[in-house]
Amino acid sequence: MKGVILAGGTGTRLLPLTRLLNKHLLPVGKQPMIYYAIASLRQAGITDILIVISKQSAGLYTDFLGSGKEYGVNLTYKIQEGAGGIAEALQLAREVIPEAGRFVVLLGDNLFMDDLTPYLKRFEAQKPGSARVLLKQVKDPRRYGVPVFDEAHPQLIRCIEEKPEQPKSNFCVTGIYMYDDEVFERIAAIAPSARGELEITDVNNLYAQAGKLEYDVLEKWWTDAGTFESLREAAERLREDKP
Ligand code: G1P
Repeated sequence: MKGVILAGGTGTRLLPLTRLLNKHLLPVGKQPMIYYAIASLRQAGITDILIVISKQSAGLYTDFLGSGKEYGVNLTYKIQEGAGGIAEALQLAREVIPEAGRFVVLLGDNLFMDDLTPYLKRFEAQKPGSARVLLKQVKDPRRYGVPVFDEAHPQLIRCIEEKPEQPKSNFCVTGIYMYDDEVFERIAAIAPSARGELEITDVNNLYAQAGKLEYDVLEKWWTDAGTFESLREAAERLREDKP
């Protein structure tokens, strides 16, 4: 299985720091943020990794990570021009995913302690053309994509509501997604949202409507390090390197 890390986002909630440096290169403990996504994939045995980055700071990624050799992985880079959203960035993976190939996607600002291995195994046992997302219970689900569960089929998500005013559960859909190559057809089928982006939640909702979106709940600590508060929390939690 391959890994795709999406690190093209601009990080407006971390301005003015992100005027200088792309969000995913900001320090978290001893390492730049991007390191932890690579370490998590490697821990789960995934060593073939595509990183989607923005033009901003592009050279700094290769300065730090190079080919990936030092980290025990093989890295490919692609540049996302503009701010067309998470699903637009994911579409750039099309060329590197073989036919019927399965892969895991990490949003580069999602930091977590769980080993992904058991979740990837469950995804591998799913039917082709289905998807799996990882959830986490959170204090303020209104900041995230929030799942609505399918009461008749407890292993399925019926739909995801993006940043709802009145969340129907206290779970969030984290930025950890598992797909096969059918996802590229689904991305091609969605239209930009009101904010002009191709939303990953719209892609996941196509799977949910088809009864093909399964999930697990992360057991350990998780954060989306997109705000100053969560970045500080992440730095405290991740003082030690991941394996
Ligand atoms: C994105 C997704 C959202 C998800 C979150 C996790 O939100 O759209 O569904 O819960 O990542 O980090 P964003 O951080 O881009 O607002």
